Amino acid sequence: MRRKIVAGNWKMNKTLSQGLDLIEEIISASSNSSVLKIIAPPFTHLTAVAEKLKSKTDFAVAAQDCHHLNSGAYTGEISADMIASTGAQYVIIGHSERRLYAGETDEILIQKLNCALASNLTPIFCIGESIEERNANTHLEKIRAQLKEALFQLSPTDFEKVIIAYEPVWAIGTGLTATSYQAQGVHDYIRTEINKKYGKGISENVTILYGGSCNAQNAKELFSCADIDGGLIGGASLKADDYTAITNSF
Ligand code: PGA
Repeated sequence: MRRKIVAGNWKMNKTLSQGLDLIEEIISASSNSSVLKIIAPPFTHLTAVAEKLKSKTDFAVAAQDCHHLNSGAYTGEISADMIASTGAQYVIIGHSERRLYAGETDEILIQKLNCALASNLTPIFCIGESIEERNANTHLEKIRAQLKEALFQLSPTDFEKVIIAYEPVWAIGTGLTATSYQAQGVHDYIRTEINKKYGKGISENVTILYGGSCNAQNAKELFSCADIDGGLIGGASLKADDYTAITNSF
């Protein structure tokens, strides 16, 4: 179901005690209960964060990744089932940092999507173009390919469960935000492609978040766009005041 969401991707930041302090600060600063706030801390913090947030209906917990298989001899890896057992309900899949540093391909990502869905986790699936693709004006082709090779492999019933995050790679952690015109253009394009593949009912209902240097200053303009339902926030999610200001930007 389409809804307003601000997800905070902590990436590899905060020790457990620092993370729990941040959660306390976010809870006490939080004032907009109509927005779902999804916190994505490191794996090691999932159980404790989920425990702190379990009575709050406007908060949820996400993992930042899951393995593409459900169990086995894969030292150091974490499966979707394990994530679900912590109390987390969401999982980020296909973040550009995973695609880049862990070499995740569309074939792996569709397996991750299937594992997440089988474990009743809601995937937050990330797509986005590089600066070279944006400059060459091939960004929409890239978006279409990422949709087609992974997400569009899902059945309509499974696809309806997914949240999409458009994150232009050139905007992540760089301080360079897509303009609302650029972001809305891609969000509209994504919804149109979904409409072609799955029909209007599904395309109108899917939640599409913007990510990439989204902050307390630019969130309002981005979130006012017709096809932008909220944000996936990296750096600015590590400060309670900034994160809260973003949740108040609708
Ligand atoms: P950023 O990260 O807000 O620090 O640019 C966004 C993301 O990677 O999800």
